[in-house]
Amino acid sequence: MIAVAGSTGFVGRHLVRRLAGQGAAVRGLARDAMTAQRLLQSSVEIVQADLLEPVTLSVAMQGVDVVVHCAAITADHKEAYRGEYARVNGEGTRNLVAAARRAGVKKIVLLNGLGTKPGSDGSYMRTRWEMAEAVRGSGLAWVSPQPSILFGNGAPFPAAIAKLARTSPVVPILGSGRTKLQPLWVEDLCLCLALCVEKPTWDGRAMDLGGPEQLPYTEVVRLILEAAHRRRPMVPVPLPLARIAAGGMSVLPNPPLVPATLELFDFDNATDLDSVQKIFGFAPRSMRTHLQEHGLDG
Ligand SMILES: NC(=O)c1ccc[n+]([C@@H]2O[C@H](COP(=O)([O-])OP(=O)(O)OC[C@H]3O[C@@H](n4cnc5c(N)ncnc54)[C@H](OP(=O)(O)O)[C@@H]3O)[C@@H](O)[C@H]2O)c1
Repeated sequence: MIAVAGSTGFVGRHLVRRLAGQGAAVRGLARDAMTAQRLLQSSVEIVQADLLEPVTLSVAMQGVDVVVHCAAITADHKEAYRGEYARVNGEGTRNLVAAARRAGVKKIVLLNGLGTKPGSDGSYMRTRWEMAEAVRGSGLAWVSPQPSILFGNGAPFPAAIAKLARTSPVVPILGSGRTKLQPLWVEDLCLCLALCVEKPTWDGRAMDLGGPEQLPYTEVVRLILEAAHRRRPMVPVPLPLARIAAGGMSVLPNPPLVPATLELFDFDNATDLDSVQKIFGFAPRSMRTHLQEHGLDG
C-alpha cells in the first residue's frame, strides 16, 4: 500500500492518478475526505488525516509500505496563524514520521523544494529544512526529490501569474528578474516520485531536480503571459520594496504576495541542466515547448 499525504494538493493529485493508473494500491490522506472523494479516482482509498492530529495519522499509516509526503503549507500561502508554516511543515512532518515508524512503514519519500537549507528561526526556509531533517533522522529508508518550480495542469505558480495578468494592468517582477528558474513538468516529477517509491536505488539521497532549461524569472513570466494570451508591461519591484508591500498586504485575507514567497528569490532556483536525465534516465519536458503546444492547462 502506498499512502500519499497531501493527496488533494497539486502534486498529490497528479501523483495519485499516476500510481493508481499503474495499478498500485493507493491511499490518499486528506484533511477533508469529501474534497478528496471529489478530486481523486474511485479506486483510491481515502483516509481522513491531519498532520497536526497524530491519532488520525496512526490510523492512516496502518498497512502502509511506503508513504509519499506531499503535504505542506507552501510559500505562496498566507499563514492562517503566526507559526503555521513551522507547525504544519516541521511538527506535522515529525508527527507523520513518528506514526510511520510506529506502524512499521518501510520508506518515506519526501517531496521538498530546491534550495532546501537551514534558515533563520521563524523563516519559511527553516521549515523546509526541518521537514528534511525529520525524514533524514527517521531511521526509515528515505529519499527526497527537491524540484524547482513546477508547471502543468493546475500548477499554482503559472496560475498565479495568469490571474495577475487578468486582474492587473501590469505584472510586477520581483527583484532583478534575473533569478534563475528551472521549471519541471509535474508529470515528469511524478514519474521521478513513482520510481523512488518502486526502487531503492536513490534511498538516502536528497536530489535537486529541474527541467531542461534555466530561465530568468522575467522569461518564465513572459512565457506564461504568452500562453495566457495577455500582453502586460512587466514592472520591476526591488526586493526590499516587495518585502514592505508583502508585509502591508498581510492584513488581506488572501494576499497576492506573502513574505515567504520572497525567501525563494534569495537564491537561483536551478540545478544541473541534466539532473533528471542523470539521476532517473529520461529527458524531462521543456516548459517553453509545453506551453506552446498545450497552453497553461496541459
Ligand atoms: N508547486 C510547485 O511549483 C512546487 C515546487 C517545488 C516544490 N514543491 C513542494 O511540493 C509539495 C507539494 O506542493 P503543492 O504545490 O502540491 O502544494 P498544494 O497544492 O498547496 O498542496 C498541499 C497539500 O498539503 C495538504 N495539507 C496542508 N496542511 C495540511 C495538514 N495540516 N494536514 C494534512 N495535509 C495538509 C493540503 O491539503 P488541503 O487540501 O486539505 O489543504 C494539500 O493537499 C510542497 O512541499 C511544495 O513546497 C512545490
